[in-house]
Amino acid sequence: MLKVDKVVKEFNGFRAVDECSFEVKKNTITGLIGPNGAGKTTMFNLIAGSLKADQGEVYFSDQKVNSFAAYKIARLGLARTFQIPKTLKKMTVLENLMLVPGGQSGENIWNSWFKSSKVKAEEKENESRAYRVLKFLELTHVADVLAANLSGGQKKLLELGRALMADPELILLDEPGAGVNPTLLNKIAKNILKLKEKGKTILLIEHNMDLIMNICDRVIVMNDGKHLVDGTPAEVKSNPRVLEAYLGEKTA
Ligand SMILES: Nc1ncnc2c1ncn2[C@@H]1O[C@H](COP(=O)(O)OP(=O)(O)OP(=O)(O)O)[C@@H](O)[C@H]1O
Ligand SMILES: [Mg+2]
Repeated sequence: MLKVDKVVKEFNGFRAVDECSFEVKKNTITGLIGPNGAGKTTMFNLIAGSLKADQGEVYFSDQKVNSFAAYKIARLGLARTFQIPKTLKKMTVLENLMLVPGGQSGENIWNSWFKSSKVKAEEKENESRAYRVLKFLELTHVADVLAANLSGGQKKLLELGRALMADPELILLDEPGAGVNPTLLNKIAKNILKLKEKGKTILLIEHNMDLIMNICDRVIVMNDGKHLVDGTPAEVKSNPRVLEAYLGEKTA
């Protein structure tokens, strides 16, 4: 479903991602872990097309996408959430969701004058999709609340909701559990598992090791921009190189 091949990204000569390669198989939950600054979020930006790789290739659904614009990759079926939620605070939860799918007829001024019935039908469909997403995330009761007034955890759920609006095949989640209380974290974990049941593929950055160990099929570890190891959660947990990376010790 996703293949990253020797990808390099430098910022002012600093290698944030350094010849990193890995694969994500269809209909799996794959964890992407590593210490702060390991290059995980940069890797998401490279996959989603919001950054361009200096070297290397990214393949999504057997297509080479590393020169594609972000919107084009999104249309191929990729959605992502951001480490810091990008909700629009002065809009309601429902409005935040309805904004997501691009290319609606209503966005074109001529369409809104001449094709009003088509625009209305699309808006209706968009709204019912938003309500389905709210129901899935158990957020229906806050549909009309301004996003600014949501709790931190609810903002995380809304962020997930925005990713689900386009019904993507591959979902990149950047720390969905950060700052979320244990009950809500459980709910997020269940939702991610439900997405897998629906046939979706999930790549998940997370520092909460319980979440990683409980829901991931495989775990990829990044360190200093490089792919360090990957394996099942149990394999990765017991790998001394992973412990070393986290503790910042070098035994070799
Ligand atoms: N736009 C940028 N300009 C310059 N340096 C950047 C930029 N984005 C990221 N970096 C640097 O690249 C490195 C990797 O950052 P990145 O955000 O990918 O780490 P991360 O693994 O997501 O860390 P965390 O777990 O703390 O979120 C860091 O040293 C960071 O300072
Ligand atoms: Mg990050």
